[in-house]
Amino acid sequence: MQDLFRRKSLESLIRAGANSPLKRVLGKWGLTSFGIGSIIGSGIFVLTGTAAATHAGPAIMLSFVVAAIACGFAGLCYAELASMIPVAGSAYTYAYATLGELIAWIIGWDLLLEYAIGNSAVAVSWGEHLAKILEGFGIVIPHMFLAGPWHDVPGIINVPAAAICFVVSWLLVRGVKESTQANNFFVVLKLIVIVMFIVLGSFWVAPTNWVPFFPFGQRGILTGAGLVFFAYIGFDAVSTATEEAINPAKDVPFGILMSLAVCTILYIAVAAVMTGLVPYHMLNNATPMATALEVTGQHWAKALYLVGATAGLTSVLLVFSLGQTRILYTMARDGLLPRFMSRVHPKYSTPHINTWVVGAITAVGAGLFKIDILAEMCNIGTLFAFVLVCVGVLVLRARSPEAIRGFRCPGVPAVPIAGIVMCSVLIYNESYATQLRFLVWLVVGLVVYFAYSRSRSVLGTGKTIEGPDLPSH
Ligand code: ALA
Repeated sequence: MQDLFRRKSLESLIRAGANSPLKRVLGKWGLTSFGIGSIIGSGIFVLTGTAAATHAGPAIMLSFVVAAIACGFAGLCYAELASMIPVAGSAYTYAYATLGELIAWIIGWDLLLEYAIGNSAVAVSWGEHLAKILEGFGIVIPHMFLAGPWHDVPGIINVPAAAICFVVSWLLVRGVKESTQANNFFVVLKLIVIVMFIVLGSFWVAPTNWVPFFPFGQRGILTGAGLVFFAYIGFDAVSTATEEAINPAKDVPFGILMSLAVCTILYIAVAAVMTGLVPYHMLNNATPMATALEVTGQHWAKALYLVGATAGLTSVLLVFSLGQTRILYTMARDGLLPRFMSRVHPKYSTPHINTWVVGAITAVGAGLFKIDILAEMCNIGTLFAFVLVCVGVLVLRARSPEAIRGFRCPGVPAVPIAGIVMCSVLIYNESYATQLRFLVWLVVGLVVYFAYSRSRSVLGTGKTIEGPDLPSH
C-alpha cells in the first residue's frame, strides 16, 4: 500500500530547479504575457457565443465571473506550488512530490485531456475561422471536409482542423526558438482584436439585448461557467516556464495571477459587448464575434478580427502542444511512458517522435468531433487536475510546514478548500455524457498504469533514463 504512494523527494526537485541549465530571462511581465498568450483563444472567440446562446444568455457575463473565481482559487494554489518547487513542469511534477506516483500518473493522464484534447477544440475553431476567411475570397470548403462524423450535420473529416495540428507539430519539431518568435507576434495580434472588439462594439451596444438577462434561469450561470471555464485554461502554463524565470518564487505567482486577472476583465467586457450587440440566440455559430461585429457595419473590423483571431488561435495551439510534449517527455523520463517518447532529434534537439504523437492525437480529435464535446472533455480533465493541485497544497502544508515558499497561498485551508469545492461544482455541472466519458478515461488510465507504467517506473526500479533537459518554451 505504502508503495502505491511512493513519491519523489521534494528536496531533489528543489535542487534540480535551482541547478537548471535553462537561461533565466523571463521577468514578471514576460511571464504574464506568456500566460495571456496561452489563455486567450477559442474559449472567448467561440464558446462565449455557444454558452450565451444555449446555456446562460446575457448572464454569460456572470458565468465568466464564476469560472474566474474557481480559477483564482486554483491559481493561488498553483502559485504556491510553483514557488516552492521551481522546476519546469506542471501539476504532474508537483503531484509527484506531494501526492505520490499514482496521483501524479492520474494527473499526467488527465492533462492529456487539458492539453491535447483542448488543442483539438482550438484546432476546430482555427479551421472554422480559416474557412470564413476563405469564404471572403470566394473559396468554399465543402461541408463534408469541415465536419467529422460526430457533428450535428455529419461530414467525413474536418480537414483544416486536422491539418493545422500536423503543421504545429512540424513547427515544434524544427525548433522552439523560431516558434516562440512567431508566437509573440500572434499574441499581440489577438490582443489588438480583443480590444478593438470591446471599444468599437461598445458604440453599437443596444441594452435591450440584455433583457431578459437570465433566459435560462440562474442555473444557466453555472452550466455556462462549466463551458466558458475553457476560456481561462492556460494560466497554469506559466508554471511550465518556472526554470526560465528570473525570480521564480515571486514572478511565477505574479504571472499566473496577473494573466488571470487581465483575462477576466477582458472576458467580461467581451461578453457584455457581444450579448449587447445582437440577441444572444444569434450567437450559436462558429464565429460569434464576427456575427456580432456585423451589426457595426464596419467590414474592415470583421476582416481584422478573423485574421487576428486565427493568428491568436495558432498561438494557443503552439503553447499547448509544447506543454503537452514536455509533460509526456517528463513522464517518459520517469519511466511511466515508453522510452521513445523521450527520444530527442539529433539535429533539432526536440522530442520529435513525441511531438508527432501529440500532433496525431490532436488531429484525430479535431478531425472527428465537434468543439463543445472536445472543450467539455478538456474542462472536466482540467478541473479534476485543479482539485488535485488544491489538495497538494493542503498536504504539503501539513507534511512540510517548514519548507521555503516564495509565495504563500493566503487563507489556507479556506482557499484550497474553496478551490476544491468550486471546481467540483463545475464538474458536477458538466453534462452526464461528459462525466461518463471522463470516468472511462480515468479507468483506462489506471489500467495502463498498473499494466505498464508501474513496473517500469524509474522511482520504483531505480534505473535512470538518459535524456537532456529541454527548454519548456
Ligand atoms: N484558454 C484557451 C482557449 O480559450 C484554451 O482557447
